[in-house]
Amino acid sequence: DWTAEHIVDELIAGVREQVGEEGRVLLGISGGVDSSTLALLLARAVGDRLTAVFVDHGLLRLNERAQVETALRGAGVNIVTVDAREEFMRHLEGVSDPEQKRKIIGREFIRVFDRAAEAQGPFDFLAQGTLYPDVIESAGGEGAANIKSHHNVGGLPEDLGFQLVEPFRTLFKDEVREIAALLGLPDDIRMRHPFPGPGLAIRCLGAVTEDKLDILRRVDDVFISGLREHGLYDDCSQALAVLTPIQSVGVMGDERTYSYTVALRAVTTGDFMTAEWARLPYDFLATMSNRIVNQVHEVNRVVYDITGKPPATIEWE
Ligand code: XMP
Repeated sequence: DWTAEHIVDELIAGVREQVGEEGRVLLGISGGVDSSTLALLLARAVGDRLTAVFVDHGLLRLNERAQVETALRGAGVNIVTVDAREEFMRHLEGVSDPEQKRKIIGREFIRVFDRAAEAQGPFDFLAQGTLYPDVIESAGGEGAANIKSHHNVGGLPEDLGFQLVEPFRTLFKDEVREIAALLGLPDDIRMRHPFPGPGLAIRCLGAVTEDKLDILRRVDDVFISGLREHGLYDDCSQALAVLTPIQSVGVMGDERTYSYTVALRAVTTGDFMTAEWARLPYDFLATMSNRIVNQVHEVNRVVYDITGKPPATIEWE
């Protein structure tokens, strides 16, 4: 029978059996629920023989790195953060094509992770938070999900010479969330919307700069905090802000402004293959618009995306 307690005990026993008394395990942390839950599970199973590597590619949200580090470290996970922000920015400089951005980020991620593995190793095992639907999808080959190259930033080549540890291979997302609750993962991570591997790079339309990321981070924070504050976060499957390259005329006090337009997007969906735009209350949207233009001076116009998927996608790139 499926109870989270029972499953956790079984998963821990399974990991111990596979890894043995001496084996060392490497895990990549994305900040999402799957890899975070896996980190907690593995820490229970093998303690300090787990090293969790968190690559900060500089495309994370406001305070996200500290939040993840604190949650995992507090739960006894041996976590190592690699600050690769400059490196990623250098490689992304002047690149505006979305697929090109994804390729560069995916490639650099593997390089940085590889280097960290080398420095922290040697390791015998590589752990991955693969879920049952991922197993099915990759067995199905090229599908609609590959219209955008969804190489998850957690996905690594098999040629690193490790044995894979994938305790969640038979589980669905809601089951992982139950396990996460039992293992004490804080709710803000446990119930978090999905966040793409390439992070804010694909929400900053066109070429990414430090300044643009900084604007987007502050807008995103106002929107996401606002959703939580108004109890609307859990009604959306995913919510995000997009920084467009459009600058337009506005007025602020007696001053004419010429500043950026940001788009807010929130969707409801079961499988992320199709989605409806979330019918957020007008008053809430008005509050968000006011807050954003008041707190983020580089922005003078806020629009809400009212397009479903299809024909649009959830992300704008
Ligand atoms: P779209 O924009 O294709 O997004 O409707 C569907 C879901 O996939 C996420 N997404 C990505 N996730 N790497 C990822 O790990 C990517 O390159 C990527 N592109 C989109 C998106 O956030 C949504 O949840």
